Amino acid sequence: MMIPTYFYTVLVFIKILAGSASSIADRATAQTVLIRPGISYEYIHINATNDKPTILFLHGFPSSLHSWRHQTKYFSEQGYGCLVPNLMGYGRSYSPLNRNEYTSKTITDHLIILLDRVGLGKSSVFVIGHDWGARTASRFVLYHPERTIGAALLSVAYSPPFRFNLNAALQQSLTDYGYESIGYWTFFAADDAARIIERNVDSFIDLLFAANATLARTDVAPVGKIRAWLNNNTRTDRATYMTKEDYGTLREYLASGMQPKLNWFHVVIDNLDWDYEKTFNATVRRPVLYIGGRRDYIGIIGAAERQNAYVKDLKIVEVDTGHWVMEEKPNEVNREIHQWIKTVMSNNSPTITFLWKSYLYLFILFLFLTI
Ligand SMILES: *[C@@H]1O[C@H](CO)[C@@H](O)[C@H](O)[C@H]1NC(C)=O
Ligand SMILES: *[C@@H]1O[C@H](CO)[C@@H](O)[C@H](O)[C@H]1NC(C)=O
Ligand SMILES: *[C@@H]1O[C@H](CO)[C@@H](O)[C@H](O)[C@H]1NC(C)=O
Ligand SMILES: *[C@@H]1O[C@H](CO)[C@@H](O)[C@H](O)[C@H]1NC(C)=O
Repeated sequence: MMIPTYFYTVLVFIKILAGSASSIADRATAQTVLIRPGISYEYIHINATNDKPTILFLHGFPSSLHSWRHQTKYFSEQGYGCLVPNLMGYGRSYSPLNRNEYTSKTITDHLIILLDRVGLGKSSVFVIGHDWGARTASRFVLYHPERTIGAALLSVAYSPPFRFNLNAALQQSLTDYGYESIGYWTFFAADDAARIIERNVDSFIDLLFAANATLARTDVAPVGKIRAWLNNNTRTDRATYMTKEDYGTLREYLASGMQPKLNWFHVVIDNLDWDYEKTFNATVRRPVLYIGGRRDYIGIIGAAERQNAYVKDLKIVEVDTGHWVMEEKPNEVNREIHQWIKTVMSNNSPTITFLWKSYLYLFILFLFLTI
C-alpha cells in the first residue's frame, strides 16, 4: 500500500508542477526594464532570426501579455521577433492610479523607449493590438508611421481623433444596433467599479469569457446590466478556449488591482487624448489589417467599414468568434496575420525586388557573354 500511495502522490505533484509551469511559462521568461525613473515595464522579448521583422503585441482590457500566448509561439517559430509588454496597469508594469497618466501619447512614448531598450531603437515593427491595445496600436501607427511597417487591429476598429461624448455614443449605438453597445462603460467609469469587480472577480471573469457569447449583448453591453450581474455575484459556464491555467493567470492579474486597468476607459470618456491629437491628420499612412469576430457584440464588425475613410490600404477579415479573436481561433487568426504580413513585406520591398532583378539580368548577360 505504501508504494502506490507514494507513487500517486508523486504523480499528482508532477501534474501540479507541469500545470503551473505551463501557466506561468510566459511570466517566467518575462523581464522588466526601466523606461524612465520610477516607470518599469514587464515584457517578453524573443529576437527575430534571418532579418525577419519584429511584431509588437499590445493586449487589451482586462487581458495581459498572456493573451498573446498562441501568437508568440507561432510567430517566434516562424522567425519573427516578438515583443510583448504588459501595458500600464497590468502585472509588474507601471500601474499608476492617476487616470491622467494613461494617454495614448504617454503609452506610445513608453513603447518607443521600450523598443530602444531591447535593441530595436532603429527598427520599424509590425504592431498588433487587441481591444484597448488596438486603440494603442492605432495611435502607434498614427503618431509614429516611421516606426511602423503595418498595424493589425483586432476587435476594435480604427477611430480618428475626435471629441467623444459617452451619452451621444450610447444613443448612436441604440439607433445603429438596437442596444447600447458600450453601456458597460458607464459602470467602468464609476468610482465603485474596481471594488465591485475585485469582490466578485469570478463572476466578472465568467461574464466576460462566457461560453455563451450572447451574454455580451444581454448582460455586458446595456447600461446597468454588468453592475447587476456582479452585485448578484452571478455565475455562468466559461468558454473552453481558455484552460484552467489561463483562467488562473487572468484571475491573478485582476485580483492584483482593477482601478489602473479601468483607467484606460477614462482616456476616451474624458477626452484625455484630444489636446495632443486635435492637430493630427487622421489618415493612417501604413497598411492596416482589421480582424473582427462575427459574434462580437461590443467591437461590432459593421463599424470596421468606417475605417475606409481613413485607411487607404485596409484589409478586413471576419472570423467566427466573439470578442477574444486570437484566443478563440488562434490558428485562423495567426494564418490571417501571417498572410497579411507577407503581403505587406513583399509590397514593401521594391528596392529588394529591383536588386534581385538587376542581379538576374546581370547573370543572364554573363551567361550570354560566356556562351
Ligand atoms: C537580441 O539580440 C540582441 C543583439 O542582437 C541582444 O543584445 C539581446 O540580448 C537579444 N535578446 C534576447 C532576448 O535574446
Ligand atoms: C445565451 O444567452 C442568451 C442571452 O442571455 C439566451 O437568450 C440564450 O438562451 C443563451 N443560450 C444558451 C445556449 O444558453
Ligand atoms: C440582481 O439582478 C436583478 C436582475 O437583473 C436586478 O434587478 C437586481 O438589481 C440585482 N441586484 C443588485 C443588488 O444589483
Ligand atoms: C491627410 O493626409 C493625406 C495623406 O497623406 C492627404 O491625402 C490629405 O489631404 C491630408 N488631409 C488633410 C486635411 O491635410
